[in-house]
Amino acid sequence: MTKIIVLSDLHLGAPGTVKFGLDTQERLAKAFDEINRLYADADLCVFAGDIADEADPEAYRLFEQMRTRLAMPQYVMLGNHDDRQVYLDNCTAPMLDANGFVQGSHEVGDMQVVMLDSSEPGHVEGILCPARLGWLAEQLAQANGKNQKVILIVHHNPQKLHMPVDRYSLAEPEKLMAVLKESGVPIPLIIAGHCHITTAGSWGGYPAVTISGNQHRVAPFFPGMTGQQACYEGSAQFGIVICDGDDCTVHFHGYVDRNIELPAAMFPWKKDQWQYIPAFLR
Ligand SMILES: [Fe+2]
Ligand SMILES: [Fe+2]
Repeated sequence: MTKIIVLSDLHLGAPGTVKFGLDTQERLAKAFDEINRLYADADLCVFAGDIADEADPEAYRLFEQMRTRLAMPQYVMLGNHDDRQVYLDNCTAPMLDANGFVQGSHEVGDMQVVMLDSSEPGHVEGILCPARLGWLAEQLAQANGKNQKVILIVHHNPQKLHMPVDRYSLAEPEKLMAVLKESGVPIPLIIAGHCHITTAGSWGGYPAVTISGNQHRVAPFFPGMTGQQACYEGSAQFGIVICDGDDCTVHFHGYVDRNIELPAAMFPWKKDQWQYIPAFLR
């Protein structure tokens, strides 16, 4: 049995930064307290992007210093709030592929964990260029050759959530789907962050979940709903993926769990969002 901790959307600022009334450094420290207390035996820990809130060099240096508290192997991925070059200039031992993307894979038991870089400078939505899709196809072919299953981790959720975040989730998800289907590799789990909400379901037949991460959580908000989407102080959570070689189970560990609704004035763009969304996304 293997155990993988997945944290996402840390949104760190320079030390002492408070945004939306939330101290993301303090919240991440709580996460690390809980991981070390309860899951120190985990095989792997993955940070699934949006490490820094505004790509501040100090935030990346803070993160590198904070994560020395964890003893297990770790991988760091980037999201739309990150800046690849600023991150690379302020980190140690980054995960890097031959083309300079922050992506890689790691073998755990009978499975291959593939961590795919969907961050793109200047884009809030996720982008997968031909180089990244080609790299993914190679990882899947290698897994196929070893009869391994693949757990795919990507910052931007490829599946529709039927929420306003669909406007800036993974762009052209059909390209990713084509590579996955073409490989024929069994994929028992796709896990993403980015959307700041816990969801479970499927995408093209693949089990697909999202975790709410380290910053604010958003409420479910569907077409036809009017007014403002609520944002909550909690849960801040990480996922615990347990694999037995055939299947995966995802547990959600809330480490800030009071669920206090944050003042609507902090999130004015959450009001009447559906009017800005193209009809085909509703
Ligand atoms: Fe985020
Ligand atoms: Fe994001």
